[in-house]
Amino acid sequence: MKILLLGSGGRECAIAWKIAQSKKVEKLYIAPGNAGTTAYGENLPIKADDFEGLKKAVIDNKIDMVVVGPEDPLVKGVVDFFRADSALKNIPVIGASKSGARLEGSKDFSKQFMMRHNIPTAAYKSFTSATLNEGIAFLKTLKAPYVLKADGLAAGKGVLIIDNLPEAENELKNMLDGKFGSASSTVVIEEFLSGIECSVFVISDGKNYKILPEAKDYKRIGEGDTGLNTGGMGAVSPVPFVTKEFMNKIETRIIKPTIDGLAQDNIDYKGFIFFGLINVGGEPYVIEYNARMGDPETEVVMLRIKSDIVDLFEGVANGNLNEKTIEFDERAAVTVMLVSGGYPGDYEKGIEIFGTEDVKDSIVFHAGTAIKNGKLVTNGGRVIAVSSYGKDKEEALAQSFENAKRIKFDKMYFRSDIGRDLK
Ligand code: AMP
Ligand code: GLY
Repeated sequence: MKILLLGSGGRECAIAWKIAQSKKVEKLYIAPGNAGTTAYGENLPIKADDFEGLKKAVIDNKIDMVVVGPEDPLVKGVVDFFRADSALKNIPVIGASKSGARLEGSKDFSKQFMMRHNIPTAAYKSFTSATLNEGIAFLKTLKAPYVLKADGLAAGKGVLIIDNLPEAENELKNMLDGKFGSASSTVVIEEFLSGIECSVFVISDGKNYKILPEAKDYKRIGEGDTGLNTGGMGAVSPVPFVTKEFMNKIETRIIKPTIDGLAQDNIDYKGFIFFGLINVGGEPYVIEYNARMGDPETEVVMLRIKSDIVDLFEGVANGNLNEKTIEFDERAAVTVMLVSGGYPGDYEKGIEIFGTEDVKDSIVFHAGTAIKNGKLVTNGGRVIAVSSYGKDKEEALAQSFENAKRIKFDKMYFRSDIGRDLK
């Protein structure tokens, strides 16, 4: 079969790597892809949210299945666009419908969903500029630190965690005044939860689901989890504190009620769900949902799935995921992200990258890369994810760090403490 994968990051490079291993795939296309995805398929110069462009590519290339990587096309309704078009309606799209993607696209929606279905999450209330005074009164009932979230997508920057009340009140005003544009015209204020975070993923056909390998990512730019938030600087899988017992709690209290809740609410959902979780004294709570895989978590999760992922995608498309099996690789997998100097602030693009061909026994997933005048150059903040297997995470990390040093570009930076906090 012919598959079209949408997106252009490290996540999509890892999904492309995994799809390309399937015996069921005759040809893989990636729109728009990056300099690394060309190792697994053909890049098409179409943006992932250019629906008319995608339609033409699907028809011209006789695509049999579309797999969506990033949230943007999902939130904009790519699945609904396919379902409503007479030429496309029979082509399965692995991804949430527009209403399902609201789990990620609206914090207020996702909190209401969790309350409705008794899914453990921080207590909260939502406010608009008309209810600013109630918002300030609500802040006064909470203890520091204060958690303020823009309701809509704000490029990962819409969550503020603030230590004192006057500043929290001030930021609430700023957000409602448009600090994050229309994304913060509604603000969710929630109770602060203290614990350690992890990412759990499932793929669902809307009725049945399969749990994928869990992962932990490292969000801050600085060693020891300091400094600004990034998209993610590295990841490890498995996560030692996600024991069988903890995963059972996650499945019964969070995953199952989420899938059943989507069905009860008549929300069409055939795709990935990413549960951003926090372990509070041994009890799992949902911090956020995403309607896609995590990045850089995917760069370890794909390594730990032994089964043919296209077989799972077929289960999603046909609604018989319950008849499929998923096997995990028992080895540990880690990834270390090489980023541009200055990221997550301003950084240069177009810097030549050397040494990727010298990497031994790791997998180089390109994130922000491009080919310019025949040379491999940087094209984003997060540039390359170096993923490795090991008998344990220490062995895998040693491998990734050794190979990270073989790759060079001006002002390259990576965190050398990925995974070190986990026993
Ligand atoms: P979100 O975009 O909702 O995942 O929030 C971004 C980050 O803020 C999370 O990964 C957490 O580290 C932190 N965070 C969000 N909500 C809370 C909360 N209720 N308590 C503690 N930390 C939180
Ligand atoms: N690594 C976190 C995310 O993809 O949102």
